[in-house]
Amino acid sequence: MPAEPAVPPAPLREPFHIIDPESFHRTFLDEICALATDVRAVAKSREGRLGLQALLSDRRAMLYFTQPSTRTFLSFDNACHILGIRTSEIRDPSTSSEVKGESLEDSIRTFSSYVDIIIMRSAEPGLAARAARLMDSIARRLPIVNAGSGPDQHPTQALLDIYTLDRSFAERGGIEGKTIGMMGDLARGRTVRSLCHLLRHYPGVRLRFLSPPEFRMRADVKETLSRHAIEFDETDEPATALPGLDALYLTRLQSEYDRPGENARFDHARFGIGPDELARMNPDAIIMHPLPRGPELDPRVDDDPRAMYWRQERNGMWVRAALLIRVLGAEAQLRELGR
Ligand code: NCD
Repeated sequence: MPAEPAVPPAPLREPFHIIDPESFHRTFLDEICALATDVRAVAKSREGRLGLQALLSDRRAMLYFTQPSTRTFLSFDNACHILGIRTSEIRDPSTSSEVKGESLEDSIRTFSSYVDIIIMRSAEPGLAARAARLMDSIARRLPIVNAGSGPDQHPTQALLDIYTLDRSFAERGGIEGKTIGMMGDLARGRTVRSLCHLLRHYPGVRLRFLSPPEFRMRADVKETLSRHAIEFDETDEPATALPGLDALYLTRLQSEYDRPGENARFDHARFGIGPDELARMNPDAIIMHPLPRGPELDPRVDDDPRAMYWRQERNGMWVRAALLIRVLGAEAQLRELGR
């Protein structure tokens, strides 16, 4: 029997749903980073791990992932297990009542009858936001976490990316003032779109978008950056930009969003990195990738100390645990464990 938590759960705070990174404040980002570091520290001892397992052992989560996922699913699932949260999952809509024509609204409402939080990924942009609006209109209002909504947003990935940048630059004055390159399919890569929305909170950050013309960062993101006076430029000649970067965030071609008959391609040798590009980068630059990789990221980069993507992937689990603690109001209990 898991022990009763010593401190009763706190009332849920804003943001209630985790949907739109544009609405996150800097204080929220700092809180998530600090919580992730705290959970990780507590989890270092067996006693701490057992304590964490009692933290939210009275809660249940629904993992509704109808679009393929390895890391996001596994890191959320394991973050739930670390905190004692029991999980139910639907990963294949052909096994749910959606095949009988049940609407998203009815499905979500049904999940809400059984669990305390719904974490969802779908190929359709805006679906998580729709689920959140539904929750706001019913008596049993549950938090919805967007674990990726089509080519649109991926807020929890952006949080773990911020955490990774924050830790990497901890001894170098933080994320502020850094030059961050984003390379690849910036038009359809939701991770870079969401990350841009969060980077606007770090004064002095400069963004360099490195992509073929037809895969450029979309206007909505660029407008947000301009509105917040974040400097950015874009080029289809990445080779010249590499030497000045503090961080390079690579993305793969998002071919799952090709329109019927479309077979979008770009030159991975130009918009990717291998030993030659590594040799041109700063000795203390970091290389990030949300993974899975395509041909843009040569496996020979893996052993370079600047490669941060495996650490970034592990950070995902701690950041998602931090997020669950924050959304489900267990920060005080975590502090107790950390004493
Ligand atoms: C990303 C995604 O699903 O958007 N992967 C992830 O969540 N780690 C990136 C991608 O699939 O390219």
